[in-house]
Amino acid sequence: MEGRHPQAKHFPPDPSSPGGVKRPLARKPSSMLKSRETPKAKVWPIGQKRNDPGVLHGHPCGRGGLVYNLNMDWTDLRRECSVTKRWAYFDHAAVSPWTERARRTVVEYAADLAENGDVHDSDRVRRVEGVRRLAAQLLNADPLDVAFIKNTSEGIGIVAEGLRWRAGDNVVTAEEEYPANLYPWMNLAERGVELRRVPSREGRIFLDDLRSAIDGRTRLVSLSFVEYASGFRNDLFAVGQMCREKGVLFFVDAIQGLGVLPLDVRQMPIDFLAADGHKWLLSPEGAGLFWIRRELVEQLHPVGVGWNSVIDSRNFSRVDFRLKPHAGRWESGTLYVGGILGLGASLELLLAIGINAIAERVLYLTDYLCERCRQAGLTVYSSRRPGEASGIVALIVDDVGTVVQRCREAGIVVSQRAGRLRVSPHAYNSIEELDRLVARIGAGS
Ligand SMILES: Cc1ncc(COP(=O)(O)O)c(C=O)c1O
Repeated sequence: MEGRHPQAKHFPPDPSSPGGVKRPLARKPSSMLKSRETPKAKVWPIGQKRNDPGVLHGHPCGRGGLVYNLNMDWTDLRRECSVTKRWAYFDHAAVSPWTERARRTVVEYAADLAENGDVHDSDRVRRVEGVRRLAAQLLNADPLDVAFIKNTSEGIGIVAEGLRWRAGDNVVTAEEEYPANLYPWMNLAERGVELRRVPSREGRIFLDDLRSAIDGRTRLVSLSFVEYASGFRNDLFAVGQMCREKGVLFFVDAIQGLGVLPLDVRQMPIDFLAADGHKWLLSPEGAGLFWIRRELVEQLHPVGVGWNSVIDSRNFSRVDFRLKPHAGRWESGTLYVGGILGLGASLELLLAIGINAIAERVLYLTDYLCERCRQAGLTVYSSRRPGEASGIVALIVDDVGTVVQRCREAGIVVSQRAGRLRVSPHAYNSIEELDRLVARIGAGS
């Protein structure tokens, strides 16, 4: 309980704790509505959530610092996350637990397939398109520009293998990117494409360093929205603008931010984006999203073309090789429907709460964690500057492997990355859980 810690006094009370301020979710997802309430077809667009005042400073796309808005009742979300019954779970940057509604949806899907086979196929197709609309809403994109993919790596591969490279071209990325965002570009070496890896400085990636790595042969910059090990949040707007000025394409691996930080592709100068659902989207592994700016579709050689890549794909007896003029051409064949429906269930909930509200909550929790850690004499490695902070906090601790193990034995899930302790809470986590974590980290030192 936060009240026990005088050093954290200036933190507003956690609304999910007893005594905290509670207000029902501004809008319930359709499945939480009582039957006489009529669900509206659309949830409000990102950045325009009703009853959500002053969420962002200055910029609707999460560029600036966030202010705390603690009037949410997070217990609704917490109830949806059964993982809380057994664990204090701070490992959303690895694999997240599913929401209950994702579980129910996938179980029902499996039952339907087992009991009815193909009979409800058209219903499944319709529901997948519903999830596409939710995914588009998350990104503020046109649904036609969103393709379902099996993971982030597939999305990166679509671009890495699809761009028409010339020997001598180069790609710029960050030294400490997750390997998913390194190997597909390294794999282009045999075509004469160089990968330039820009080192970070004290866990931060500087725009000037990226700029210095770019030259007349740079075709693309590929960066994570949030760096997986340090938690550094790249300024996508600034990097994208620089890319535009230099005529360079910009790919974003969004998996460590999507669902927990707002990202509006209409306002961000980015060209491609990919993410799987199994981290901050609280969704199944293997159901991911790829987004491409429409005017770039024809610039890529379409890799992995299949029966579903063409315009009239369900007319099986008519062979007519005209590729879909949008992201749909990369959905080559049968989709991972169960996973996509599970993704849709969690997405609907997250959108109903509002990504801005989730971002505030997670930044509140991670700020609190950092403060408590500093008080306990621990070193916070992650940048916590406005606009650079994320849901990932990297801590420097002695004997990190033992700390991870000690936490696990105490029912606390964290992980180790780049020799540091990585803590990644979601909005349903509580202050009380964070206090337990800090006590546990300190217990052996
Ligand atoms: C930045 C980043 N990209 C990608 C991935 C995972 O890639 P994929 O979805 O292809 O498994 C991770 C997983 O840790 C990650 O942190």
